[in-house]
Amino acid sequence: MRVLLTGGSGFIGSHIALLLLERGFDVVILDSYANSSPNVINRINTYLDKNDLRYKIEIINGDIRDKKIIDNIFLESIKQSKNIDIVIHLAGLKSVSESLNNPLHYWDVNVLGTLNLLLTMKEYECYSLVFSSSATIYGLSDSVPISEDHKISPINPYGETKVAIEKMFFDLYNSNTNLWKICSLRYFNPVGAHPSGVIGEDPVGTPNNLFPFLTQVAIGRQKLLNVFGDDWDTKDGSGIRDYIHIIDLAEGHLASIDYLNSKESCLEFINLGSGNGYSVFQIITQFESSIGCQIPFSIQSRREGDVAKCYADISKAKKLLGWTPKRTLDQICLDGWNWQIKNPNGYR
Ligand code: WQD
Repeated sequence: MRVLLTGGSGFIGSHIALLLLERGFDVVILDSYANSSPNVINRINTYLDKNDLRYKIEIINGDIRDKKIIDNIFLESIKQSKNIDIVIHLAGLKSVSESLNNPLHYWDVNVLGTLNLLLTMKEYECYSLVFSSSATIYGLSDSVPISEDHKISPINPYGETKVAIEKMFFDLYNSNTNLWKICSLRYFNPVGAHPSGVIGEDPVGTPNNLFPFLTQVAIGRQKLLNVFGDDWDTKDGSGIRDYIHIIDLAEGHLASIDYLNSKESCLEFINLGSGNGYSVFQIITQFESSIGCQIPFSIQSRREGDVAKCYADISKAKKLLGWTPKRTLDQICLDGWNWQIKNPNGYR
């Protein structure tokens, strides 16, 4: 099967690409490198070569806002009689704070980009799609764990773009319920790295997210960790999130492909998380105990766009996809650190 993986050189995309290639899928990656490095692909090739795996990967550097680029990918695939069977769409912007400062950029890339992709898929009669949605769409959670039928009420433009995209899927599917096969996967907090350490999380600039910031403090690239609030309504006052190992998340995508292949048509919204909630202080303590280090931190005021608690009810993923996360928080810390210590400056 041939998969078009948009955003395939990013943190999540690269881990999905590696698992797809190991599983024998033919992968075409489209990436603008806005928040990733072209070096990722060399790392993936080296890893697969070292493991004597035969694989087919093609990389196109381009922006999903340019519909001609997407058109050409599909056209070329038909010319080479290697049609694209399914699209995994990850290309998009994902910083809550950045979306608050530059909302139109988020609507442009995330929503217009997805519209371009859907229009092209329709033109070339490719109707299978796995999409990178986000738990951010739930906003302020009335109750945890959060299930898929929880109220959708994003509190930032990033979350609003994901809601808008899911609404596109809803209208598209209902326009012809015997055609489209769509899984919209609502990620909680993907963290860690491939156990080999050849790929991992390497945010451009100063990390927005907790985990890469933590590993950069541990390796000495950051002086200390700012804890955004110790006055939340949680057991220790710091924010609670659902940290899922990036390989568990990637395996959830392969399970989604198998699910779509088993259906005539479908539209499903599915949480992908560990199902456990951990506070910032618990993450710091676990990381220190897993790695054997001290993480200096300073308490700061709450960050705009944050919520107190957000962790997943993953029973639908278990039931529908037969998928469950397998890796522990300790494994997350060990794999994340293994990547960071082997790549002190990421891919650069
Ligand atoms: C986690 C916790 C912070 C950084 C992110 C992305 C969003 C989505 C989910 C994909 C919170 C605290 C953080 C720091 C801190 N991803 N924190 N100091 O906010 O849950 O959302 O992942 O859809 O795109 O924004 O993750 O890692 O930023 O924060 O104290 O330096 O850590 O307040 O409680 P978040 P995060």
